Amino acid sequence: MTHPLSATSSGHFKIGGDLSINRLGFGAMRITGSGIWGDPADLAGARATLRRLPELHINLIDTADSYGPYVSEDLIRGTLHPYKGMVIATKGGLTRHGPNIWAALGRPEYLRQCVLMSLRRLGIERIDLWQLHRIDSQTPREDQFEVIAAMRKEGLIRHVGLSEVSIDDIQAAQKHFPVATVQSQYNLIDRRNEAVLDYCEANDIGFIPWSPLASGKLAQPGSVLDTIAKRHKLTTGATALAWLLKRSKVMLPIPGTSNVNHLVENVAGASAILKQAEFDELDAAGSRCI
Ligand SMILES: NC(=O)c1ccc[n+]([C@@H]2O[C@H](COP(=O)([O-])OP(=O)(O)OC[C@H]3O[C@@H](n4cnc5c(N)ncnc54)[C@H](OP(=O)(O)O)[C@@H]3O)[C@@H](O)[C@H]2O)c1
Repeated sequence: MTHPLSATSSGHFKIGGDLSINRLGFGAMRITGSGIWGDPADLAGARATLRRLPELHINLIDTADSYGPYVSEDLIRGTLHPYKGMVIATKGGLTRHGPNIWAALGRPEYLRQCVLMSLRRLGIERIDLWQLHRIDSQTPREDQFEVIAAMRKEGLIRHVGLSEVSIDDIQAAQKHFPVATVQSQYNLIDRRNEAVLDYCEANDIGFIPWSPLASGKLAQPGSVLDTIAKRHKLTTGATALAWLLKRSKVMLPIPGTSNVNHLVENVAGASAILKQAEFDELDAAGSRCI
């Protein structure tokens, strides 16, 4: 039986065909300081948010070595190790030079270091899902894919994901390894990656929409979501997540928060069933906001 406040209500998806998770996950970028730099302002609140995840049956956590940097992975290990059935999906390939400053670095030796250091920080022997945070335009993409394929073959990585890529990038990567997930910016009011989502759905690749709440904008009252949210006695954020979950069976939203109450509100979206007419109404209104 599913509990109303449980990510199990979002349905499940098998990453890479064999790693089963509940579709509503958690984004662990916001458990860091301002500009995704350093410790969070409310360390106890961030820890409490992470500890609540298993109680809500959230078993997909998205993080990256560059969040903090290292702060997010360290906090995840400190609160949730040994993870008990949770998939900790991390990323590498971005360097940090200060708050809100990110630079891609895809040299094979650096990508290998990213994986080895994430393994050490997370305290595991194999990463269930490792994602290339960005393809570095200064390094041939084939070189980046080759080293990832080698690390997968070596058993350091179980499944590989990509982030902010084109369909052409995905197809090029698929010559080196199966692409299990693609992470791209996508939400009700930002649909630039619709074609990538459709490609993922057609190929059973998990699609992880980042900024599923439009960086919090959709969680504020006064948006296109208000009427339908009130009808379902939900917050606007939860309604935006319900829309995403209905949009595609490969959709794996990872809303980010460092606030336990917000986390609980968001999980309510997992159990909301929008009628087709409501989905269509939001779809049309969201498309007009682009
Ligand atoms: N691959 C990439 O390049 C990439 C880029 C960006 C993000 N990501 C991933 O995607 C995840 C989600 O993206 P995101 O964090 O940028 O955007 P988001 O999930 O759309 O929005 C997060 C923001 O919304 C607020 N929020 C969340 N739930 C709320 C609620 N119920 N009520 C009010 N406010 C709420 C949060 O503030 P509070 O903390 O106050 O709740 C936070 O500021 C990240 O954590 C990260 O894992 C990946």
